[in-house]
Amino acid sequence: MSDSDTSSHPRPIAASAWRADTIVLHAGYNGHDHQRSAAVPIYQTTSFLFENAQQGADLFDLEEEGHIYARTGNPTQSVLEERVALLEGGTAALAVASGMAAIDMAFATLAQAGDHVVIASQLYGGTQNLIAHVLKARGISSTLLPRDQWSQLHQSFTAHTKAVFVESVANPSGDVADLELITRQAHAHGIAVIVDNTSATPLLVRPFDHGADIVVHSATKYIGGHGTAVGGLIVDGGRFDWAAQRERYPQFSTPEPAFHHFVITEKFPDFPFAARARTIALRNSGATLAAHTAFLLLQGLETLALRLDRVSSNTHELLDVLVQHPEVSSVSHVALTSHPDHASARRYLRGGHVPGLISFELQGGRDAARRFYDALRLFQRLVNIGDSKSLAAIPAETTHHLLSDEELRHAGISPGLVRLSVGIEHPEDLVADLRQALQHAAPAPHHPTERTTIITPALALEEQA
Ligand SMILES: Cc1ncc(COP(=O)(O)O)c(C=O)c1O
Repeated sequence: MSDSDTSSHPRPIAASAWRADTIVLHAGYNGHDHQRSAAVPIYQTTSFLFENAQQGADLFDLEEEGHIYARTGNPTQSVLEERVALLEGGTAALAVASGMAAIDMAFATLAQAGDHVVIASQLYGGTQNLIAHVLKARGISSTLLPRDQWSQLHQSFTAHTKAVFVESVANPSGDVADLELITRQAHAHGIAVIVDNTSATPLLVRPFDHGADIVVHSATKYIGGHGTAVGGLIVDGGRFDWAAQRERYPQFSTPEPAFHHFVITEKFPDFPFAARARTIALRNSGATLAAHTAFLLLQGLETLALRLDRVSSNTHELLDVLVQHPEVSSVSHVALTSHPDHASARRYLRGGHVPGLISFELQGGRDAARRFYDALRLFQRLVNIGDSKSLAAIPAETTHHLLSDEELRHAGISPGLVRLSVGIEHPEDLVADLRQALQHAAPAPHHPTERTTIITPALALEEQA
């Protein structure tokens, strides 16, 4: 990377003809510019040298591009940002300390006291908690919209609505958002749409292709993919016309007192959202991604395409077991024809892949779920998703335990719902562990009860495409 490349500025991403499998390995880095280091180096430094006083002043005035101080960026982080921005088809990205930091900063970049946001009812519990309580305490109100009301989304809008927030593939329900239905209505009112693409990854869903304006990620999940690093990203789609919506979003097209009185849309026309997120939200919150963590996330990202192939095929194997098992009362996954989003999945999921999140309930409810859970030997009992290793959680007792009963109902989470995050182990070992744990779900002695819910068999999306 040349001097002009090692920038703490949010930078535009050069168009690339590479496929995703190649981008994850090569984009944004040339070892010849880094002491011929083949691997992306960890820039373990807080600060970057100035040649002289003039250069320091120029860097601060954005007359010259370059890193200054690692709170707002460093060269290891820049490579991660460039790779993810390219994968998503955005114009720039900002890597931050966690997925929650990315979501919080995305809202902070758009909304302030007196504003309003509309959110899907099926979201990661931490996001729901942030919006329902933390944003509320900051004076930002929200409307939670159940999935069956998305066609009337526009009725929730007010003059102060600043964003619609959805997950492309929801955690834990696995529901696939009808992004075009959502973005069409939001854009008709000049409102930006933020999509959390964590559970899908850009290899399964590219929200910008369907009208989204901002994408956020918990890189902790599939991007890192090894359960070793917490991080997040905000990606700017670069197409939302903030200046045209000046009344709703004056912060983008009026002089910004917190940043040199620059007009963000004039100074950074290609990626104003990423620029504002970096120069205001990140600079002032300081929720910075450490260089070492950026390195770990880059290592994980290299194998994303390979991992998702195996996750997808393993998911089909496990679904086949679950839908036929007498102890299982319901299974939720978009690969099943019974899933209400099966059609959306066929429309939005790319590459013949299916997401690796499976939710299911047992005939014996919560007690059976606990027996099943405690009997797992290979699936790890913890709260994370997107690891190479297969994981299991009971969301109502963990990730979503802060939600009210009504919020849980809207999120499609019953007390006994089990969430699996499918990893890349050998499928037969996963199936064996699932089967033996399901045996333990029944109260001893084992009398399988009659099934109450009709479940249709798993259907490979790729066979239908
Ligand atoms: C869909 C989704 N978004 C955001 C987050 C928050 O990410 P992090 O834990 O990296 O802060 C999570 C965490 O589980 C998640 O599942």
